[in-house]
Amino acid sequence: MPLPKSPAATDASPVTSWRPAAEQVIEAGRDGFARAYVAAARGARRLARASGLIAALDRRRHRRFPLFLRSLFAVHDIDELDRLDLPWWTFGAIERVDAFLREREGAARAFEWGAGASTLWLSRRCREVVSVEHDAPWWPPLATRLAAVPNVRASLVEPRAAAAPECPSGRAGWSGVEFAPYVHAIRDAGGPFDLIVIDGRARAACLDEAVHHLAPGGLIVFDNTHRRRYEPAIARSGLRVERIGGFAPAVPWPSQTALLSRT
Ligand SMILES: C[S@@+](CC[C@H](N)C(=O)[O-])C[C@H]1O[C@@H](n2cnc3c(N)ncnc32)[C@H](O)[C@@H]1O
Repeated sequence: MPLPKSPAATDASPVTSWRPAAEQVIEAGRDGFARAYVAAARGARRLARASGLIAALDRRRHRRFPLFLRSLFAVHDIDELDRLDLPWWTFGAIERVDAFLREREGAARAFEWGAGASTLWLSRRCREVVSVEHDAPWWPPLATRLAAVPNVRASLVEPRAAAAPECPSGRAGWSGVEFAPYVHAIRDAGGPFDLIVIDGRARAACLDEAVHHLAPGGLIVFDNTHRRRYEPAIARSGLRVERIGGFAPAVPWPSQTALLSRT
């Protein structure tokens, strides 16, 4: 399906070139907070390493709470999160998905919107992982790491400006951005999939699409379902929903990850 075009933008225009100034200010504030938080965590990590705290937590990381504390020093550090063997979902959900994949003895095939440490985590537990990422600045370091993993097929599918997006993002500052090619990437990915992870952008549209690509007995992992804007999509999916709240790696506030299935 051809992408809708706004009069002010073409498919070739970068998203940031046309976004209204006010929205860019909101985004900049959010990004500024994230950068400050990551910088503070890096500083704290140097102190924690020097004091022996990191080593002490590493020795105890088979238990959930020390592992959570250890992960706080690994925010936005894919290599550390990989060493800790952690995707960015709530700890309860990680354990449930781990058990789901162990039952399938490495034979499961997974599709994921929103690549990162989770992609590496899945690659160790699945026969094949297909992952789609939207974030161009995040892509080069990620792609380098994923290229070394033979059972991962990952691609960057960037959003485009559009007046009336078919697959919008509900995130502040992203109205009028088209994610349809990103959402529809699953159509050519060789499904159905035993596991589908929704942890990127345009999550409501991703869920609408995911239900058509889920293998019998399959599971959908939908992260950050504490955000109310995802509720209509969850309701219309008709799937059984199990919500697993609690802490997730690398951030000091609670979240919620939902597991959706047909039975
Ligand atoms: C919501 S996160 C989830 C990533 C993945 N599903 C996981 O569990 O690790 C996805 C977004 O966070 C950002 N991101 C994730 N890891 C990052 C890192 N280590 N450094 C910078 N940005 C990161 C990127 O913008 C990416 O599109």
